Amino acid sequence: MNSHKVLVFTGAGVSAESGISTFRDSGGLWDNYPVELVASPSGWRNNPKLVLEFYNRRRANAAQAQPNPAHIAIAELEKKFDVTVVTQNVDDLHERAGSSRVLHLHGELSKARSCLDENLTYSIGNKPIQLGDKCELDSQLRPHIVWFGEIPFFLDEAKNAFKDAAYVLVVGTSLQVEPAASLVNSAPFKAKKIMVTLEIEHSPKGFELQRGKAGQLVPLICRQWLTRA
Ligand code: OAD
Repeated sequence: MNSHKVLVFTGAGVSAESGISTFRDSGGLWDNYPVELVASPSGWRNNPKLVLEFYNRRRANAAQAQPNPAHIAIAELEKKFDVTVVTQNVDDLHERAGSSRVLHLHGELSKARSCLDENLTYSIGNKPIQLGDKCELDSQLRPHIVWFGEIPFFLDEAKNAFKDAAYVLVVGTSLQVEPAASLVNSAPFKAKKIMVTLEIEHSPKGFELQRGKAGQLVPLICRQWLTRA
């Protein structure tokens, strides 16, 4: 454990106040789009056009969104701490707020990748992916997103960053999706650990639970940590 290290673990709730839908809240994305149709390898095989349209809409939505006070406060922790942000989100609001080390466990909307070689990724910014857009190996491009049944990125790096942290802040996740959710169990016993969320039945062991909006609570917590450092 290193007293200068902060680990921030985020989910959809940190971007909710920026106008990006969460997944499991009432009216969330999985209510409106069956997950097996738009976020699974079988959905892609059956109807790639539908999958591309789903992520093209999400990319356009993320491009219009702005970082909110929670993203900004997390970025400002870098004034005094060595910060790693581990996020399940596929938007780039942490980066646009100024965070410099962000591990995207579930991929990034602003990248496309080859269906033949997952190491062939391409920055596409806000542009849509269309059927017929090909990688250099002549295979269809797909979103650089981890679908159900696929293995998240950066799991080892994320686990090590958790293990090293003296402060751990978990924001806006229902902790329902594995293996990402179990990363919180790697946080050191002695670390200061806080979880901010609107609704959750119980927080992970050792975490102080603060119920409320990320945009209100996260700036207060970050200010306290910066003052005490
Ligand atoms: P969920 O939609 O499962 O959970 C969002 C959490 O954020 C809930 O606990 C809400 O109570 C909370 N929340 C909502 N608005 C908030 C706000 N303004 N401030 C604070 N908390 C708020 O989203 P995730 O946990 O991120 O995976 O979902 C994890 C993964 O499931 C996603 O990365 C995605 C999804 O299937 C893939 O697509 C692979």
